[in-house]
Amino acid sequence: MRKTGSAVILAVLLAGVALGATAVRATPVVYNPPPETAKLKPGPGVEVATDNCSVCHSADYVLTQPPKRGKAFWQTEVTKMIKLYGASITKEDASKIADYLAATY
Ligand code: HEC
Repeated sequence: MRKTGSAVILAVLLAGVALGATAVRATPVVYNPPPETAKLKPGPGVEVATDNCSVCHSADYVLTQPPKRGKAFWQTEVTKMIKLYGASITKEDASKIADYLAATY
């Protein structure tokens, strides 16, 4: 009884090693996303906005928001990117970006 138990454990362990070896040999997945075409409109502050806001996602996220929401909306949006999603943006840049977005969208 005891011996059978050990044999089963050994078989499970060997199966695990075999599976691990297979995973190591798996070919990496290659993604080919289409080229980025969305662009923020020109205006004072567009460079700082582009530099900071295109790190994680397309400018489409900005372009598809309802228009004329004002500075408070954009300030909240920028703060959300920093606090919730971990965007690394200085206070000074965050304020410039909110001004740019409020004036442009
Ligand atoms: C650290 C990564 C990161 C950076 C940098 C970033 N975002 Fe986002 N953003 C996200 C994530 C994650 C979402 C949510 C995506 C989802 O829900 O599918 C998002 C969503 C959005 C949305 C959609 C509405 C919403 O609130 O979910 C807007 C608008 C947006 N971001 C604007 C900006 C702006 C403006 C900047 C520059 C100040 C910026 N993002 C920088 C990660 C980031």
